[in-house]
Amino acid sequence: MRFKELNPANMKESPFTMLADNWMLVTAGEEGNFNMLTASWGGFGVLWSKNVSYTVVRPTRYTFEFMEKYDRYTLSFFEPEYKDTLMLCGSKSGREINKMKDTGLTPVFDGGSVYFSEARLVMVCKKLYWQDMNPDNFLDASIMDNYPKKDFHRMYVGEVESIHEKWVINPLDLQ
Ligand SMILES: Cc1cc2nc3c(=O)[nH]c(=O)nc-3n(C[C@H](O)[C@H](O)[C@H](O)COP(=O)(O)O)c2cc1C
Repeated sequence: MRFKELNPANMKESPFTMLADNWMLVTAGEEGNFNMLTASWGGFGVLWSKNVSYTVVRPTRYTFEFMEKYDRYTLSFFEPEYKDTLMLCGSKSGREINKMKDTGLTPVFDGGSVYFSEARLVMVCKKLYWQDMNPDNFLDASIMDNYPKKDFHRMYVGEVESIHEKWVINPLDLQ
């Protein structure tokens, strides 16, 4: 499947729907050594005059090792029929299963990043900043309910270097 680059200014979708309803795969690594997890928390915006994403990964995740080691990560968004695939990547660890074999997804190696040919939209992000969530700063006590194991997320802010959108070839365009 081919992709075309999308200007961030032309992104029309609600980030709330993209994340809360449809989820995403967060992938880091390189050819032969990468891993992905499903995430539904995070966001996009502007920081330090750059287009950025923020993504939160618990240190217990296998993907965390890849987020730490590599400079870039990708956020891949899929059509609803991939929900089972995202559920698998969000409930099993790459330490226990072979996620590529079990999902049947096709990796795309693009410079220093990895994403999936089946995705409908991909953001390639370069790490700018990280910070561990500090429970002392939780201003609503109920946030703590998300951390029975005290495995507080590490937040990564990444510059959105490019956005790739699935390019469905219209036969009329070829004439
Ligand atoms: C809908 C959904 C959203 C999730 N969001 C996150 C998230 O934002 N951050 C995170 O660290 N884990 C999140 N998870 C859990 C990981 O995807 C899950 O633990 C996964 O198995 C980790 O895989 P890994 O060990 O191969 O990295 C989510 C899971 C689901 C199903």
